[in-house]
Amino acid sequence: LGAPDRGRTNEPERFISMPRSPRTRLTPILRPMSVTATAPAILPKANDACWCGSGRKYKRCHKKSEGRVLPGVVTPMRSVPDTIARPSYAETGEVVAWDEPRIKSSDTIQAMRHAGKVAAEVLRLAGDMVAPGVTTEEIDIYVHDLFVERGAYPSTINYHGYPKACCTSVNEVICHGIPDSRPLQDDDICNIDVTGWIGGVHGDTNATFFVGDVDPESRQLVRVTEECTWYGIEAVKPGRPLSDIGRAIEDHAKKYRYGVVRAFVGHGIGEQFHTDIQVLHYYDSRASVIMRPGMTFTIEPMITLGAINFKIWDDDWTAVTADGKRTAQFEHTILVTDDEPEVLTGGEGAASPVAPWKR
Ligand code: MF3
Ligand code: CO
Ligand code: CO
Repeated sequence: LGAPDRGRTNEPERFISMPRSPRTRLTPILRPMSVTATAPAILPKANDACWCGSGRKYKRCHKKSEGRVLPGVVTPMRSVPDTIARPSYAETGEVVAWDEPRIKSSDTIQAMRHAGKVAAEVLRLAGDMVAPGVTTEEIDIYVHDLFVERGAYPSTINYHGYPKACCTSVNEVICHGIPDSRPLQDDDICNIDVTGWIGGVHGDTNATFFVGDVDPESRQLVRVTEECTWYGIEAVKPGRPLSDIGRAIEDHAKKYRYGVVRAFVGHGIGEQFHTDIQVLHYYDSRASVIMRPGMTFTIEPMITLGAINFKIWDDDWTAVTADGKRTAQFEHTILVTDDEPEVLTGGEGAASPVAPWKR
């Protein structure tokens, strides 16, 4: 690029690429799009002129960022005190899987009841912190300290290199959002997913929270997603295949024409964060594993207002809907018993304690 007016105007070096007189240029200058003006309530169509007056098409200007969650700054991983026992991947970030029985011993079940309770309490307290202006990093620091105070290792820290004590997934973020410097905004929905490792086992739970005043469309999405999760839980019965869970979830989501994300699934859990069992949130006859008393797994449907196609941010973690429409999720860790399932991360004091129709 040329620097037409230098010398004559005596401008400092840094203005070389921003000349005063674009008429003298042979190549067009891309002016930065306005970041100070705010978008109108009704946005232009993709090929119409942008609302900001840049003269560019809306799709070439503000459309890409508008109304979307933008990545903030992620601070370095925080350490966990040496007094807290840690899982094997904590040092290296490498997860080495081993064979773990699908049917847990009574000792493991006892430990998982405790881990579930701790995770549930941390999730509820973290949810109480959700408000406009609070950054997801502030929530993460709180979650980290709550786990440590309870003698638990925040399972996500250094799990496959993941840097934080929880996942915070806002609006169109499906899951695995990394807490960062972005302040929550009025009308956001924010999922917090917490997992704690204590007594040698993991407890994994999440819920979607409202930030200030949330629009009715999003409120319904969150309500129905919680219902989907509990319909899935009610489908847990010994002797039945795991596919019953996905069917129950999908049937409910369909009534509202919502999408059910397929790319991320529930999982077996115990001494390991993720074991071989896969819990699909949609119906597939191939999900033929029979539920047996003593099995433990998560149910964690991600439900979308629009399509279920997804993209991953450059951080290699954050999964977002491709269409930018909102998505919600709830998660519980479940124990199959001879009769009703035991919701290890539910009960009194949990963010989603029992099925909505039972409270
Ligand atoms: N808690 C998530 C789940 O429900 C997993 C997060 S793993 C992380 O399975 F590495 F992204 F933190
Ligand atoms: Co999980
Ligand atoms: Co989780």
